[in-house]
Amino acid sequence: MKTNYSAHDKVYKHHKEEKLPGWDSSEKDYIEFKVHLEKIIARGLAPRVGKFLELGCGAGNIAIWLAKKGYETYGVDIAPTAIAWAQEKAQKQNVVAHFSTGNVLDLSTYSNAFFDFVLDGHCLHCIIGEDRQKMFSSVRRVLKQGGYFLINTMCGPVNPEKVKNFDPISGYTIFKGIATRYYGLPDSILAEIEKAGFSIMHWEVEHGDPNATLTVEAVNHES
Ligand SMILES: C[S@@+](CC[C@H](N)C(=O)[O-])C[C@H]1O[C@@H](n2cnc3c(N)ncnc32)[C@H](O)[C@@H]1O
Repeated sequence: MKTNYSAHDKVYKHHKEEKLPGWDSSEKDYIEFKVHLEKIIARGLAPRVGKFLELGCGAGNIAIWLAKKGYETYGVDIAPTAIAWAQEKAQKQNVVAHFSTGNVLDLSTYSNAFFDFVLDGHCLHCIIGEDRQKMFSSVRRVLKQGGYFLINTMCGPVNPEKVKNFDPISGYTIFKGIATRYYGLPDSILAEIEKAGFSIMHWEVEHGDPNATLTVEAVNHES
């Protein structure tokens, strides 16, 4: 299946021009995600300090918020416009955070076992087919043994009347022959995460319309 991860950049150019907060068009979405993250962190599995990386950090809204909570913060995104925007936001808010352009399938700019906490910043559902295991193995390499991986990803079931270009057989949205999102069912995503060598500590599904969302707290296995 064809992919084009770089296509995200033009969305950021447009959103920045329109003075939107980031990938999401409304501050309310970021506030809701922060409330969700607060609840997860309060549950106690996530480290409260240490080196933190957001995968697909976009314009840095969540990463900068976590930097203010005391994490040594890094963010990576394939869209250069998003990274420049995140750097600008961090500077304006006097926050130290390390943002860089890169591909989550690679992460070779980070050394082995560098991070205590990696967050999927809604990036996993952009990653298609065999690339998903590549992303998981990059995460395993940069996470410490016993390090914490938090995933928050769109999943099925999907309302096909509301999700444009959804192909129920593959679980992808496909536009002009390019797969843009993956809405696997929770069980199949959980199986992918375990296959990659993570131990799943907790998971939950929030059913919504047009799609459900899966949250997974996982730990990097001893190998
Ligand atoms: C749904 S957006 C979320 C952005 C950000 N976390 C936020 O909450 O505003 C997904 C992000 O993943 C990034 N992305 C998609 N594929 C990527 C890849 N292969 N490597 C790095 N980033 C990628 C996109 O550029 C986009 O910024």
